[in-house]
Amino acid sequence: MSSTLVLGCMWGDEAKAKIVDYLGKDTDVVVRFQGGNNAGHTIVTGGKKYVFHAIPSGILYPKTKCFIGSGVVIDPFDLLEEIKLLESNGLKLDKRLFIDQRAGIVLPLHKILDERNEKRLAEAKIGTTKRGIGPAYSDLTARVGIRFLDLAYPDYLKSRVTELYRYHGIEISKAELENEIVPLLKAMEKLKHYINDVEVLLAIAEGNEERILFEGAQGALLDLTYGSYPYVTSSRVMTDAVGIGTGFSARNLDNVLGVYKAYCTRVGEGPFPTEIDDEIATRIRTTGNEFGSTTGRPRRIGWFDTVAAKYSARINTVDNFALTCLDVLSGLQQIKLCTAYKYHGHEIDLFIFHPMEMQNVKPIYEDFPGWEEDISACRSIGKLPKAAQLYLEAIEDYIKSNLMIVSVGKDRKQTFTIKP
Ligand code: IMP
Ligand code: MG
Repeated sequence: MSSTLVLGCMWGDEAKAKIVDYLGKDTDVVVRFQGGNNAGHTIVTGGKKYVFHAIPSGILYPKTKCFIGSGVVIDPFDLLEEIKLLESNGLKLDKRLFIDQRAGIVLPLHKILDERNEKRLAEAKIGTTKRGIGPAYSDLTARVGIRFLDLAYPDYLKSRVTELYRYHGIEISKAELENEIVPLLKAMEKLKHYINDVEVLLAIAEGNEERILFEGAQGALLDLTYGSYPYVTSSRVMTDAVGIGTGFSARNLDNVLGVYKAYCTRVGEGPFPTEIDDEIATRIRTTGNEFGSTTGRPRRIGWFDTVAAKYSARINTVDNFALTCLDVLSGLQQIKLCTAYKYHGHEIDLFIFHPMEMQNVKPIYEDFPGWEEDISACRSIGKLPKAAQLYLEAIEDYIKSNLMIVSVGKDRKQTFTIKP
């Protein structure tokens, strides 16, 4: 396969980075195409833990190039911090990291607006990561946003930033404008050698038959339109977003690998039909270290929802899927799998997402026996306890896709591919 998309298929935090990292050894280019540093991609290798926010996690492989596509929004100051941290760990980024000139800029103003919007919404808040992601995307849509390319033209940048403030009803003085522009230009000085045209670079890479891996951030159920609106992120988190966010059409993808976790989690507000909040939830949260890697918030926990999973597989034309964190379920007596919803007295298998309908949705469960064994050393399906095998088969049947990769622990090595 020369081009593969690794896409989170639930509400994010499916341990995508672990899968990207696992596949990374056979990859020439890793590409981010949406989201920003609201993402937190954790990789554990050689006993060391790395958390990536804007930079593609492929950067850990010294020969892999990393592209940040036009669909990503970037806070230049946070990015510089992330670069500094990686460099202090001995990683070299020069001539390996390339950022598309069209990528949007997250300004300090966007963080302020994000915080303010959430405060104003109070009870109805979205539970954002407060990284300014939503306001940055909406400004780009309103055509008042700032893009990397604009930083090359200081006078133009000044007029654009002034316009942007005006758009938000804020008049800024000359001095305030300078305070905004000078640090931006300084950051740009340090970043400019990374700026390039990712669309062109991808066309070249494809021409050279390089192996390209697209790394999704967040998850498809957080997609701006197809997710549980309005409790979603502000970018497009779908297979089709690859083309929009890089210029490399999703039609060119050879393989879409969906990533699911053996149970569900969600951070932030919004519908979550299979949510549980009991001692099993606490146990899963502790064992799985289910705390946001960006915000540290405890993640909400729930049973695997095959209705949502099937919907996600369908809208993203998932070819194969990876199942992560199976080891976290070890030791549970019983595991529940949501196979349908009870909705106004009917049994349905359609994903319902309107907030006003959620109280009418009740998950219907099939119970599976758990397993006691520690499975973290298993490297094939046949080595897994029978109960775990049955659970995986059921998930495969319900979501109508092929299980290709299983992850049984945090380390790069604790992963295996199922031979077709
Ligand atoms: P925003 O993307 O910061 O605007 O947040 C919108 C919603 O998406 C909130 O529910 C966040 O918790 C969620 N979200 C954003 N990024 C991630 C992520 O990387 N993993 C999981 N949830 C996320
Ligand atoms: Mg995450």
